[in-house]
Amino acid sequence: MNKLTLVRPDDWHLHVRHGAILKTVIAHTARQFARAIIMPNLNPPILTVEQALDYRTKILKALPLESSFNPLMTLYLTDALTPEEIKKAAESEHVHAIKLYPAGATTNSESGISDLKGIYPLLEVMEQVDLPLLIHGEVTDQNCDIFDREKEFVASSLTGIIKNFPNLRVVVEHVTTKEAVDFVLSASDKVAATITPQHVLFNRNAILAGGIRPHHYCLPIIKREHHRLALVKAATSGNPKFFLGTDSAPHLTATKENSCGCAGCYSAYGALELYIEAFEQANALDKFEGFASFFGADFYQLPRNTETITLQKQTWTVPASYRVNNETITPLKANEELNWKML
Ligand code: DOR
Ligand code: ZN
Repeated sequence: MNKLTLVRPDDWHLHVRHGAILKTVIAHTARQFARAIIMPNLNPPILTVEQALDYRTKILKALPLESSFNPLMTLYLTDALTPEEIKKAAESEHVHAIKLYPAGATTNSESGISDLKGIYPLLEVMEQVDLPLLIHGEVTDQNCDIFDREKEFVASSLTGIIKNFPNLRVVVEHVTTKEAVDFVLSASDKVAATITPQHVLFNRNAILAGGIRPHHYCLPIIKREHHRLALVKAATSGNPKFFLGTDSAPHLTATKENSCGCAGCYSAYGALELYIEAFEQANALDKFEGFASFFGADFYQLPRNTETITLQKQTWTVPASYRVNNETITPLKANEELNWKML
């Protein structure tokens, strides 16, 4: 197959930041996707519907003129969130979910949750108003090996949340382990997962073998090969519980190529071309449209898109960097060849 036409996809997990970075990265996302779930981990975080709407307006202003891209907003779950705000969010046509970061798990997660049971009353309200909970699923115990943090979270926390709130819609974000995949498979249809391009393309050698590669460093960290294989199998299975969420997380090159580099892979410039490499390797091009264009919309109870886009088999080289004022963002697979190109 040399060409693939599919309904325009959506990105169900995206970081766009603000200011100059926003301007650069939102154009990349809007070229490929009709909609994206916008993560709220700004500094300061997006805590209220009003802040989410204000952020949405800034995103719309940063878009290229002709774009009809629709940012789907989220709130950041803290102990201070109120039932009233959750209800307001559920009523807003622009707020679609609430994101749970365990405190200290990742970039700008300091205001996150340290006592999960403490927020159970809020989860009860979310369950009642049917507002999805998006979870960064990693324990934050500093004694826990970083490669085990997702697996531990599944066992210690996720199971309890799902048991206590069986009707709460939950997205386990950016799953990276076989354990998380198996958990999602065994749960009800209220529980789904997003999968990133880096976790289906790479195993942990890509970070650490033959030199340390900071542009492959993200959280949850990329795991062993058998986990990658489990993720590829899930993404290409045609099971609607698994859908596209890039977790594209731009950081300036200087903050990643650093003695203490930031976590995050920048993939929005060519997200579809990155994913399709993994689908082609798995002989599953026929499963790409469900994963990229249908299952996420169905889970979020939003209409599927109707326009189409086309990807063509064509080799091109990913740029070394993208400019942001006088600085740069280094993309995932910088200077490497990709085999497909969106027309
Ligand atoms: O690698 C990551 N980067 N993981 C996250 O959970 C957050 C993200 C970011 O915002 O940079
Ligand atoms: Zn993320």
